[in-house]
Amino acid sequence: KKVVLAYSGGLDTSVILKWLRETYGCEVVTFTADIGQGEEVAPARAKAEALGVKEIYVEELCEEFARDYVFPMFRANTLYEGEYLLGTSIARPLIAKRLAEIASETSADAIAHGATGKGNDQVRFELGAYALRPDIQVIAPWREWDLTSREKLLTYAETHDIPVEGKRGTRSPYSMDANLLHISYEGGPLEDPWFEPEEAMWRWTVSPEAAPNEPTYLELDYRCGDIVAINGEVLSPAKVLEMLNRLGGENGIGRLDLVENRYVGMKSRGCYETPGGTIMLKAHRAMESLTLDREVAHLKDELMPRYASLIYNGYWWSPERSLLQQLIDASQATVNGTVRLKLYKGNVTVVGRQSKTDSLFAPEIATFEEDAGAYNQQDAEGFIKLNALRLRIDALKKLSL
Ligand code: ARG
Ligand code: SIN
Repeated sequence: KKVVLAYSGGLDTSVILKWLRETYGCEVVTFTADIGQGEEVAPARAKAEALGVKEIYVEELCEEFARDYVFPMFRANTLYEGEYLLGTSIARPLIAKRLAEIASETSADAIAHGATGKGNDQVRFELGAYALRPDIQVIAPWREWDLTSREKLLTYAETHDIPVEGKRGTRSPYSMDANLLHISYEGGPLEDPWFEPEEAMWRWTVSPEAAPNEPTYLELDYRCGDIVAINGEVLSPAKVLEMLNRLGGENGIGRLDLVENRYVGMKSRGCYETPGGTIMLKAHRAMESLTLDREVAHLKDELMPRYASLIYNGYWWSPERSLLQQLIDASQATVNGTVRLKLYKGNVTVVGRQSKTDSLFAPEIATFEEDAGAYNQQDAEGFIKLNALRLRIDALKKLSL
């Protein structure tokens, strides 16, 4: 038996590696991806080697992540439950895909991951893997083993010669997950939804209070709904995210503290930093406001919560997501132009938008001044009267009762 393990190089997945061998007597292939989490992935190779792994995959996937997952999602202005920019959710389909592909490349029969049995991540990894490798087996150690506390995990590591970094009690109290789009914090003191996180928890953003007193202006160029340049400089999707994360972080933008509904049924409290994503959402809406037909825009808005749930719940690799994506992508053909923004103390403000090729804004019609006769105000009378007809019939009926 051979299993491909999503391996971070950290304590948990190192314990999983040993446990898989011990429990299933299987050979383990490790897969570690750099998706912009801001930690070196090279040490994961050394650690896997030290643990005797023969097939080690370490991959740089930042561009693929930004181009094929984050950017397509932002074309839909996606938000889960009105607030969450899906930073963790959108990274899972890519990991699931590589796990499934590596399983095929190495003739493995199973994949394994370090997500718990209580969360969303297990669902996302496994739905993705099953969709892409229908015959795959899944091993989720957290659902099986008896290492049910941090203490037990550390004891297991010590008795199995797994190096543990940092002394007991010095590790971060939060369960964190980071990539190019966000960093998330859950658990520990956050399990009390009334507790306000201490300033020291946040890693990517300064607090709005500590942000500079001078605003930062920037211009984003759009092509078919995607940002292609910042302040005139052409950048790849990953570079766009990197730069917006930096500018947003410096200006205290993108902090979020919320209670969300997990797919498995429980509510959970999470804090997120998504500086670049927060800027992208605001700017993309502004670009669409000028270039999309009203009904197309409204239809997109109706479908968006559905699309967001698909991603949150782990259905990226589903026929319905792919169908929705085709519609969303097709709508973006006219979303071309430039948005000008002001970043200031936690706020993103749109201060300008223009599109030389695709603006639907008709100043000669919208003007409050004298117009050239393109719009006849008298037409509005009949428009309103016919729309009022059913309201009047209803009101008359009530009067005659
Ligand atoms: N609650 C968020 C989500 O479901 C974040 C999950 C964070 N995952 C983690 N392994 N720490 O998308
Ligand atoms: C986990 O349970 O592994 C993290 C949280 C989640 O997946 O929602």
